[in-house]
Amino acid sequence: SWTMSAYRDKMIAKIREQVGTGRVICGLSGGVDSSVAAVLIHEAIGDQLTCIYVDHGLMRLNETEQVVTMFRDQYNIPLVHVDASKKFLGELEGQVDPETKRKIIGRLFIEVFEEEAKKLGGADFLAQGTLYPDVIESVSFTGGPSVTIKSHHNVGGLPERMNMQLVEPLRELFKDEVRALGRELGIPESFIGRHPFPGPGLAIRCPGGITPEKLDILRQADAIYLDEIRKSGQYDQIWQAFAVLLPVQTVGVMGDGRTYEFVCALRAVTSVDGMTADFYQFDMNFLGKTATRIINEVRGINRVVYDVTSKPPGTIEWE
Ligand code: XMP
Repeated sequence: SWTMSAYRDKMIAKIREQVGTGRVICGLSGGVDSSVAAVLIHEAIGDQLTCIYVDHGLMRLNETEQVVTMFRDQYNIPLVHVDASKKFLGELEGQVDPETKRKIIGRLFIEVFEEEAKKLGGADFLAQGTLYPDVIESVSFTGGPSVTIKSHHNVGGLPERMNMQLVEPLRELFKDEVRALGRELGIPESFIGRHPFPGPGLAIRCPGGITPEKLDILRQADAIYLDEIRKSGQYDQIWQAFAVLLPVQTVGVMGDGRTYEFVCALRAVTSVDGMTADFYQFDMNFLGKTATRIINEVRGINRVVYDVTSKPPGTIEWE
């Protein structure tokens, strides 16, 4: 739109003015916010920007390749892809408490990011995809606008430790405006319209202990579920949809044999801002068909259930 085009030009000028000839690093998560921030900043200052993508090994099927390909090959944005999955999965091994899992991931994320930034010779600025709602939330909770609640995604704490100034070109925008800006920047609709994905990734969709095998089972089930949702034309009506792999095995029957495998829970919600949510009312035939596909195609799952909890009292994620 005309307004977004004007906003984009204004922000580009502002970024140039702030950064000058300085170097900027940006933590890319694969989410819409950090992606739009990175593309905008790259338009403003070109290769003075380097993006760092910390791969924690907890992304969905093929997601890392898609992000890396898009930024490196399509946009030609200098991108460091750090495969830290062994480190993350190693430290997560045997951990079952949700908060402990989150804290480990947050700490390692900052460690790895800092290490990579040092390898790059440091930078003068740290770019973040902080939105207006993040600014408001962090002010009311902590009294300081540079610290956000989503500490993982926004690498909170880093700017102080690394002595960097923040570049936050989305600070005045709401989510729908960020999406409009992303369209203005030519980012594909399939990327702009993606459901939110939490910083700790699949770790919080695998209650209990995390193993590479469980993550692999979860990835396959989740991909089938989302494939069915897209094919049925419901993706854009849903705020977020994902599979959860429960740490419970149940008895089933397949052919002549007994099976004893994991339960997969499917979650889908509608929401405006993620603060409250209603469970999405799928047609039962859709759920039945999806469950059959998951059980037939994914070894390790023999039962599928649907989560009919709204928020509150539930949360969207299971951990
Ligand atoms: P809950 O589960 O609290 O989630 O109802 C609300 C929204 O926030 C997302 N979420 C996160 N996003 N880092 C993030 O960037 C996190 O640690 C995190 N935890 C939850 C969740 O996916 C939902 O959209």
